[in-house]
Formats: sequence, C-alpha cells, structure tokens
Amino acid sequence: MTAYKKKLIEVALPLEAINAASAREKSIRHGHPSTLHLWWARRPLAACRAVLFAQLVDDPSSRVDELLADSKLRAHAEAELPERLAAWENSKASAQGAAANAPEPTLEDVAVEIERRRLFEIIEELVKWENSTNEEVLERARAEIRKSCGGELPAVYDPFSGGGSIPLEAQRLGLPAYGSDLNPVAVMIGKATIEIPPKFKDKEPIHPDVKGRQFYRNAEGLAEDVKYYGEWMREKAWDRIGHLYPQVELPKEIGGGQTMVIAWIWARTVPSPDPAFADVQVPIASSFLLSRKAGKEAWVEPIIDKQAKTIAYRIRYGGTKAEMATAKDGTKAGRGANFRCIISDTAITPKHITSAAKSGKMGQVLIAIVGEGKGGRAYVSPSAEHETVAFSAGPSWKPEQRQPKNPRWFSPPAYGMDTFGDLFTDRQLVALNTFSDLVHEVRTQIEADAQRAGLSSDPTALRDGGKGAKAYAEAVSVYLAFGLSKATDYHSSITTWHNGREIIRNTFGRQALPMTWDFTEANPFSSSTGNWLNCIEWGVKTLAALVTAAGGTERQHDAQTVDYPPETVISTDPPYYDNIGYADLSDFFFCWLKPVIRSVYPEIFGSIATPKSEELVATPYRHGGKDTAEAFFLDGMSKAIANMARLSSDRFPATIYYAFKQSEVAQEGISSTGWATFLQAVVEAGYAVVGTWPLRTEMANRMIASGTNALANSVVLVCRKKEATAEVITRAEFIRALKRELPPAIAELQVANIAPADMPQSAIGPGMGVFSRYKAVLESDDSPMSVKTALQLINRELDEYLGGIQGEFDADTRFAITWFEQNGNGKGDYGVADNLARARGIEPPRVF
Ligand SMILES: C[S@@+](CC[C@H](N)C(=O)[O-])C[C@H]1O[C@@H](n2cnc3c(N)ncnc32)[C@H](O)[C@@H]1O
Repeated sequence: MTAYKKKLIEVALPLEAINAASAREKSIRHGHPSTLHLWWARRPLAACRAVLFAQLVDDPSSRVDELLADSKLRAHAEAELPERLAAWENSKASAQGAAANAPEPTLEDVAVEIERRRLFEIIEELVKWENSTNEEVLERARAEIRKSCGGELPAVYDPFSGGGSIPLEAQRLGLPAYGSDLNPVAVMIGKATIEIPPKFKDKEPIHPDVKGRQFYRNAEGLAEDVKYYGEWMREKAWDRIGHLYPQVELPKEIGGGQTMVIAWIWARTVPSPDPAFADVQVPIASSFLLSRKAGKEAWVEPIIDKQAKTIAYRIRYGGTKAEMATAKDGTKAGRGANFRCIISDTAITPKHITSAAKSGKMGQVLIAIVGEGKGGRAYVSPSAEHETVAFSAGPSWKPEQRQPKNPRWFSPPAYGMDTFGDLFTDRQLVALNTFSDLVHEVRTQIEADAQRAGLSSDPTALRDGGKGAKAYAEAVSVYLAFGLSKATDYHSSITTWHNGREIIRNTFGRQALPMTWDFTEANPFSSSTGNWLNCIEWGVKTLAALVTAAGGTERQHDAQTVDYPPETVISTDPPYYDNIGYADLSDFFFCWLKPVIRSVYPEIFGSIATPKSEELVATPYRHGGKDTAEAFFLDGMSKAIANMARLSSDRFPATIYYAFKQSEVAQEGISSTGWATFLQAVVEAGYAVVGTWPLRTEMANRMIASGTNALANSVVLVCRKKEATAEVITRAEFIRALKRELPPAIAELQVANIAPADMPQSAIGPGMGVFSRYKAVLESDDSPMSVKTALQLINRELDEYLGGIQGEFDADTRFAITWFEQNGNGKGDYGVADNLARARGIEPPRVF
C-alpha cells in the first residue's frame, strides 16, 4: 500500500489541452523565453507548467472524505451518480473479457471525478500562452498547490536544466526554482532566466532618460535598462565601424537614391577545375534566386566573358520560367558539394572543393546587395566599392577554438574552416569584436548611472549576491552579452538568404553547423533581420514578460553527482541518447560569451571550452565507438537518476521527460529498444514508474482527429521511490496483478478523456507501476523479467481490455483485430502496422 498521498499526475492529466497549447506555443516568438538565447531541444513551457502543477496537487482520490464532507460537492455527485451507473450498466452488457469487470461507480468515484474536472479546468487555463502573465490564473494555481503542500510551495530542481523551461515554470508557479547543467552556456541561460531577474524584482530602471512611469513589475525595469544600453552600444559602434557599412545607390528603375543595406550576398569561390581556366575563381552557389515572391521575382545573372576570363554579376527582376529555374539551382550539379564550373562547364567535385579550401584557395565574391527599398527589399548589383570596403576590415581577434572533427554535426571543417573563428568574415569579426568591447565599456557606464540613480556603491559582485550598482551593471551586461550571442547567430558566414520570405536564415536553423556556399552578411546597423537592436529586443521582450514569483538558483554541475536541497521535487528533461551534441555546438556561443562575461562569472567561464567528458550524450566519435558510447550513456544516466531517487523528496513523485527519436517511434513503437532501455535505467535506479504521459508538440489535433495510432514524440515518466520492502514475484503473479489493476486504471484514463491514440503510451504508466513496484519479476528460469517483456505483457492486457476479447488470442490475431479495427479493409500506413506488430512482440514479416 502507498504511504504517500497520490498526486494528480499519478492518475490523470488533460492531455489534449496540454498538447494543443504546447503545439501552439511553437509559433509564438515575441516575448517567448526561448528567444532570450538559443538552446536546443527545449520543452514547451505549457507542458512543463501543467506537469509541475499536476505533480504537486493531490489527486482527489487521496482526499475522498474531505470531498464528501463538502455538502455542495456531495449534492453534485449524488445528482450525477444515476447517470454514471446507467452508463456502466450499458457498457457492462456489451463488454467482454477484462472490460466486463470494470468496477461499478460509487458516490466516492463520482465526487472524485467532479473534483478532477475542476483541477483540469485550472490546468486548461494555466497552459494558455496568453495566461502566462495572468496573475489571477497563476494565483489560482498557486493556491491549489499550497493547499496540497501544507501551505508551503516546495522547491523544484531540474539537474539537466538546458534552456531552463522547467525551472522557469516552477518560478512562475511561485515555487523556489533550482536548475543546474553541465554546460556553461545553459547555466548562463538559467541564471538570466530564473536567478538574476528576482534579484531586481519591481525595480525602476536607472538609465538617465527614465520617464516618470508609476510602477515597474517583475523585471520590467531591468528590461528597460537593457534596451537603453543596447541602443547606447549601437551608437558607439556606429561611430567606430559605421564606415564599413556604406549605403547603396538604387538604380532608377527601382526608385533611385541611396539606401541602407540589409545584407550583402556572397558566393564562395574555388579555382576552375578546367586547366584552361585554372586562374579564374568560379562561384559555388546553391542558388542565384533572391526573391521567388510572385510578381517580385529577382535573381542574380552571372555574366561570363570567356575571352577576358571574367565573371560579373547583375541583378535581374522578373524573367521566364526557364530563367528562374536555372537561377534557382545556382551552380549546383547534384546533392552535397557537387557543382559545375560556370565558365568551362566542367564538374566541380567535393574533392576539388576540399583541396582548394585546404590550400587556402577558397575565396568569396559579392553577387548581390539587398537594400531597404520603398516597397520592400531592393536588390542591387554588386560593386567593386562594396567589395573593397568589406575586404578592408581587419579584425583584432577571432575565436581560435577548433570545431570538433565530427561531420555529423560539423560540416565546415571538411572545407578548411577548422576553428569557430573561421565561420565569420573579417567584417563580421570586426563588428562582433566591437560589440564585445562595448559590453565591457557599457558596464562601467551603467555602474556610474546606477549610483547616480541611487543604487548603493556596495562592491559585492552579482555572483556573490550583490544588489548594488556594481551587481546591477553586471546583470544588465549579461543580457547585452546575450545580444552578442544572438548577433553571432545572425552574423556568421553560415547564414543564408531565404528567397521565399526575403529574410536572413540564422546559423542554427537546425542542430548542426552546415556548410553554406552562398551566404549572407547582414548589416548590424540596418533596421532589418539580424540588426543589433533586434538582437537586443528579443531579450528585452522576454525579460519584460517574466514572472519573478519566487527566487531562482542556477549552477554548473554534473547531474550524476549534484547535491539537492532537502525535500526537493524533481522535474527534469535529460539528454536523449545521441540526438544533440550540446557541448560541441554550444562552443560556438561559448567562445564569444567567455571574453565578455568571464569577469562576471569567472568559475563558469574559466575553462577553455565547454566540458565534454561528463556530458551524457552517446557520441561515438568521442567515446571511441558505438558500443562504448552506449555503455557510457547508460551508466551515467543510471547514476544521475539514482542520485535523484536517493536525494529527492518522498512526498512527491519525480517527473522525467523522455524524447523519442522520430525514427524510433516510427520503427519500434512503445516497446522500442531505446525506450525500454531508458525505463530499465529508471527502474534500476530505484524508482517505480507510476505514470507515462505522451506529449505531442506537433499537429496534435490532426493526428488525434485522424484516429491513427501515431505515437507522441515525448513521454513524461512519473516516478516514485521504490518501497524498501519491495517483494520478488513470478511472471504468473505479475500477469494476475496486471489483470486486477489495469482495468480500473484504464477506466480512469478513459473517464479522463485520454484519446485512443494516446492510450497505448498512457497505459504503460499503470502497467509499469505494477512491474516496478516489485524488486523483481522472475521468469520461469528464475531470470529477472526485462522491461521490454513487461511492456509487451502490459500491451497485451491493454488490448484485452480495449478489445474486450483480444487478450484471449495469440499475438498475431490481436495484431489483426487491432489493424482491422483501425483500417477496415482499406489501406493503412506501413509504419503504423510495424508499430502494432512490435508492440505485440512479433516480427513484422510474420504478419505481412
Ligand atoms: C534535453 S536538454 C534540457 C532541455 C531543457 N529541458 C529545456 O527545455 O530547455 C538536456 C540538457 O542536459 C545537459 N547535460 C548533459 N549531460 C549532463 C550532465 N552530465 N550533467 C548535467 N547536465 C547535463 C545538456 O547540456 C542539456 O542542456
């Protein structure tokens, strides 16, 4: 028997509302905390918020007496009971197998359901993006948590905090928020999100031009100062390097006059492979198309003079379909680094490019200039003057940190671009260095202004808990440094021109550094994408929308050994296997952040690069092979989870997010090897898994509405510490326990409106609850049952319950019944069939 009070998340969750809000959140940009600083694989805030709430609030079934003592609720339940009994009678008459044993609803059950519906309504309001700062909605949630936690809001800890979504949502709910991560960039994001803002809560800005506004909530004052000093930096930067960003003369046909440049578009060049033209640098460009907007088409036309051995570029507006198609392909001749020489028509192979790049013969040529036109973008032919200005830039410093030799995530080193500094043009380096220097200078200016505005001259640093002028100046400079990070994302030679939306694509369009052939060089002083003020503005909007309802602490630590404060609640989202190389990728930002904030956080930025050896990512290139990488990952993850299980509170369940790889979901379904292995690590770490909630962040409605068995892309595991007295049972006893306990649990999930598509993943929770409650389940040869086998047995029981009679049949027949139920005689998706087969422990070839 459980000695603790069950929490809502151990029984039910309004998945549909959470999934819809999570999916919607993806399209929200302005003011979304993810725009403060780039981080990979962030969890949706809506999901984190709902999970935390449901993890802390009691499930109504754990306070039935209290519910029935409430006369209003009791009367409501009495009125609903007859209807529920009638529905039960009806379903009982038609159900067979385990479903026929669904328990008769009682007055207690109905009271519990009514109360759950009330809690669901709170969650449904809570997850809406527009309620993120709605104090009335948030306070209602906080009050509910307080009620379940003896009047106090417990601390929440995320030992894999990354972009900080979980601690941030804890703080929004008024819970003392703790986060840690191995990675210094993630730690800085955590500090900027949950630790620094509460230190300056409700403070007025200190800059000299403050207009008499009455009240500044949360971090609004801090946000206003970041904006002010961001503008200050722009002015200073313009004075220093404005000459490197000349305006462009517009041709008469498009309005004439001078205009600000938004971006310069370059193509990389290599010597022609044709010996007759070996002295000519030819462009390698993926596309010459600049705008494919209907009626506003624009492209680059290369003008070749074979005699003079020259190539010039001019802008063309409009054109025939054939011309556009040719422009679209640039000088590409196939996938990857395969091009053709536009002067000799010979093939440019990847080998040719690599050897040119490695011998320093890869160059760049200006092919177009994008200006701010009257009615949109104005495309102008390149000029020697613009090229000369760009090449005149002489950077004083560039990051020398080498990119890893891992072509899966890093393509540029194959083309001689070995260091992170090689990813920038000289002019980009000059601009980034200028803004970097200015972050230091502005800190002095802010400190002086803050003292004039009345902040104390206490010399205590921000990292030591200071709150005076010095600490405040350091705090503002952290957000300005984040502006610099954003600028590095928009001002590298990995950025490209999006010819559909006519904007710049940032460096990290995906979780890798790709090679680019034609690239953009944005103007940080324009008023378009990637300009400096824009880079600052993202952070300002996020800061102004933060809810600093509790203190926050973020530190750098390895999750395998981190200490937790007493009575901490764990909610965490560990790295999934080898999906993302956080440490390798984040060195791109680390090398720019280090010079600007090392003096503010010397411990975090003391290392040469981000720590790699303890990072729990199964990277074969780092660990000397696939098997050693897998063993490293599993061992480390088990240690980290065991550490949580040992040190966290007994009163609350822990929640752990598990992200499925798309290919894993498609190929193996709910008993996939990755998932089973992860569950096994959780169970071996001393946790019993008592709930599994599928979360969808994409196309939630479409997938559920179409009724397919598509699986969600991540699952929240709800875990309780295993009882010290856990027994050992046999396979037969396990199956009997499943038969006894799964039907009422599934009935509860059905009452809680879990969509049929979500049922297989949701039902794993109660099934694993049975399995992991025991010390071990023994097979007939006395070997312990694996999680994979347990998952298959759970699935069989689920089928039996849902299908009424399916459990009586063998696995092939159960597969066939479910398949025909879903598809009739019509066609079905192979991936879905594959999922169904594997979930039943059968090989697909036997049934197709
Ligand atoms: C999936 S991400 C967390 C994302 C986060 N929940 C969010 O929404 O932004 C996993 C994190 O684990 C961190 N990590 C990897 N190995 C670690 C270790 N040994 N100790 C602590 N953190 C680690 C990575 O740096 C990464 O930030």
